[in-house]
Amino acid sequence: MLFFIDTANIEEIKEAQSLGVLSGVTTNPSLVAKEKGVTFEERLKEITSIVSGSVSAEVISTKAEEMIKEGQELAKIAPNITIKVPMTPDGLKAVKKFSELGIHTNVTLIFNANQALLAARAGATYVSPFLGRLDDIGHNGLNLISEISQIFDIHGIDTKIIAASIRHPQHVTEAALRGAHIATIPYKVLMQLFKHPLTDQGIEKFLADWNNR
Ligand code: E4P
Repeated sequence: MLFFIDTANIEEIKEAQSLGVLSGVTTNPSLVAKEKGVTFEERLKEITSIVSGSVSAEVISTKAEEMIKEGQELAKIAPNITIKVPMTPDGLKAVKKFSELGIHTNVTLIFNANQALLAARAGATYVSPFLGRLDDIGHNGLNLISEISQIFDIHGIDTKIIAASIRHPQHVTEAALRGAHIATIPYKVLMQLFKHPLTDQGIEKFLADWNNR
């Protein structure tokens, strides 16, 4: 499973990139809205100059024709832009067109396996099931990863599964075990993945022993 970072914050992206584990970036309108004093296009230029893997940029139009126009403009920013499209009938019409144009897509706001299957059949490069938001309403987000993974395997579908709306490190481990190809992770959770109290204690003891030699 690969790691993407789920943020539009440039400092977080630079730091994650410097760790050597980053394969891509996902943004969404809420994340972009937190970034002040920079346009979406400017921020996408910055991000794509740092990260060579997929950088998801979400369209805000709701009609297929407008999504297509908007996505084509965003795709001109850099070759590694992936157009993020919501899981709606219009969204999938746009995905079909993008796939014909050779533009990569990420179908977002996936909350059940049928939505993932539809998105894949429309030609989506990635589907993004939202784990945390399902957990928030008392469902089991991780079971959805297992279902999509099984369905894609049975039917030989090569659309990649991005485990999204990740809230904690256990989501990451479980998403990997259940067959997600990618987890897109907030910066805070990415840094939590590094931590174990025994690692910290071990370093402390090694250093103390070294200094007492
Ligand atoms: C995915 O690409 C989304 O940007 C994201 O994971 C949504 O997460 P949230 O539920 O924490 O907003």
